[in-house]
Amino acid sequence: MSSHAGRVALVTGAGRGIGRAMADAHSAAGAKVAYLDHDPALAEEAAAAAKQRGCEAMALSADVADDQAVAEACRRVSETLGPIEILVNNAGISPKSGGDGKRSPVWDMQPDEWRRVIDVNLTGGFNCVRAVVPGMRELGRGRIVNISSVAGRTYCDIVGVHYAASKAALIGFTKHLAGELGPDGITINAIAPGRIDTPLMRGSAPEANEAARLATPLRRLGSPEDVASMCLFLTSDGAAFVTGQVCDVAGGWLLT
Ligand SMILES: NC(=O)c1ccc[n+]([C@@H]2O[C@H](COP(=O)([O-])OP(=O)(O)OC[C@H]3O[C@@H](n4cnc5c(N)ncnc54)[C@H](O)[C@@H]3O)[C@@H](O)[C@H]2O)c1
Repeated sequence: MSSHAGRVALVTGAGRGIGRAMADAHSAAGAKVAYLDHDPALAEEAAAAAKQRGCEAMALSADVADDQAVAEACRRVSETLGPIEILVNNAGISPKSGGDGKRSPVWDMQPDEWRRVIDVNLTGGFNCVRAVVPGMRELGRGRIVNISSVAGRTYCDIVGVHYAASKAALIGFTKHLAGELGPDGITINAIAPGRIDTPLMRGSAPEANEAARLATPLRRLGSPEDVASMCLFLTSDGAAFVTGQVCDVAGGWLLT
């Protein structure tokens, strides 16, 4: 039997793209999955499709930047599906407000845009961890995966400084919490995707995505499923002794 069978997983930003692929991979492996998304229609559609495949799933609509909404969503998941054992912090944004799918340079970046990116990409992860960790500590086990980016490890010409800073911070968040949560049987790791073909990626200028593809040693863009298979490994029993790591899923792009 899969080590995911019957386990309760919460995936944020699960309505589309990488989040949906990770949530679907967990439900296909037998987990009971809560599909959380800011967009209620996307969450409903993704959870309904999982249910149609015979999986136990539920949809939740919340903004991960809102700590009260996250706490309430986690409470509903525990009541409906059972105690949360797996958390995937995936919800993220990468505004391209420079026009033509380009980022704003730092001198044009509006403070509100900076704050929103940090609130969603970094504080969103904090809000979710804070809400689920007490239950994981009671269980004596848990698995957390944070979706960072290769842009959090090194310079990436496509994204804004707010995005790079938030994704770099998620790496520090991951390493610190590996130390803090390890004694309670909770592992926490990060995935650093490269260019993955999703609606978010398609928001960038097409020539930037093509340049990234050509600069990727494996000469292709990643798929959401490429990231989902790494995530499924990190939440499986096979990864029981892996914590505090950052795993690139990038086809060799921006190797550090
Ligand atoms: N696509 C890439 O090339 C790439 C590369 C590196 C990292 N990432 C990261 O992977 C994650 C998923 O990216 P994607 O490409 O699938 O993006 P996407 O925009 O296609 O999907 C993101 C999903 O998150 C939801 N979301 C956005 N803000 C939210 C919020 N505040 N609360 C709850 N849900 C919210 C959206 O509604 C959407 O369904 C992000 O954290 C992103 O930074 C993506």
